[in-house]
Amino acid sequence: MNDISVQAMRRLSAAGGVEMPAMDLSKPLSEPEKQLVRDAFLEHHILVFRNQKLSKEAQAAFTEQFGELEDHVVRQHDGSKTPQVHTVSNLDADGKPSYKPLTHGNYFWHTDKSYHAKPSLATLLHAIELPTEGGNTQFANTGLAYESLPEERKQAFADLKVVHSWEANRRNTKNKPATEEEKRERPPVTHPLIRTHPETGKKVLYVGIHTSHIVGKSMEESRELLDELADFCAQDEFVYSHEWQPGDLVMWDNRTTMHRAIANYSMNAERRILHRTVIKGDDIPH
Ligand code: OGA
Ligand code: MN
Repeated sequence: MNDISVQAMRRLSAAGGVEMPAMDLSKPLSEPEKQLVRDAFLEHHILVFRNQKLSKEAQAAFTEQFGELEDHVVRQHDGSKTPQVHTVSNLDADGKPSYKPLTHGNYFWHTDKSYHAKPSLATLLHAIELPTEGGNTQFANTGLAYESLPEERKQAFADLKVVHSWEANRRNTKNKPATEEEKRERPPVTHPLIRTHPETGKKVLYVGIHTSHIVGKSMEESRELLDELADFCAQDEFVYSHEWQPGDLVMWDNRTTMHRAIANYSMNAERRILHRTVIKGDDIPH
């Protein structure tokens, strides 16, 4: 890869996102291509690769060039050889398009697996079937949002810790309450409200639908502030809204973005199916 490729990249919004130069992701990347991807990932946070046609195996192989694959919290029972590649869809338990699909929680602002001690580093979605219009994925740049906080708020938030949990996710999304077994399997974790990106050193607001409360504050006071900060991050100026095209593969950095799916399509009539891989992250220092 050379300068021409860098020039071929197109920024998609002021908040992040870049359309990558033409590359065939079904083949192993060269070292310069991998470096181009790594650099663009840190600079633009959301990478859009157009016109891909990847089998599940090929998506897993592409993903593994950038880190260790993470298992899905809900295991697939389809006997597929690649359980780390799972399907995100708007289908209900009967396989029908639905207003309340199994992945209902994806329609709220979140960063992937923030209810784990080691939340996901990156997530990759590959469009398999798309509705005729809509069904965007939105990304909020939580680093830009942090930067634009007034100085006194940055200082007031500097030492706050936030509890994230699967149980809170179920409560906040008005989903079926977490079972005792789920609570045992996924106990609450605590993360700083202001997270430092381990590679860029930039600070971000670390909030979203998996948050329960702020340590030392009441549930009520916590919810108010956490929701206010999530709304703050979700202002237009910090958001890139991805309009899916057939063949898109989108890879994003969970350490400096929140995301959500948008219900702006005929959810109960048209299918929206994406294949998903995730790269494991590290402990977040306190
Ligand atoms: C996800 C997710 C959003 C979407 O796969 O982690 O949140 O647009 N997906 O489907
Ligand atoms: Mn997600």
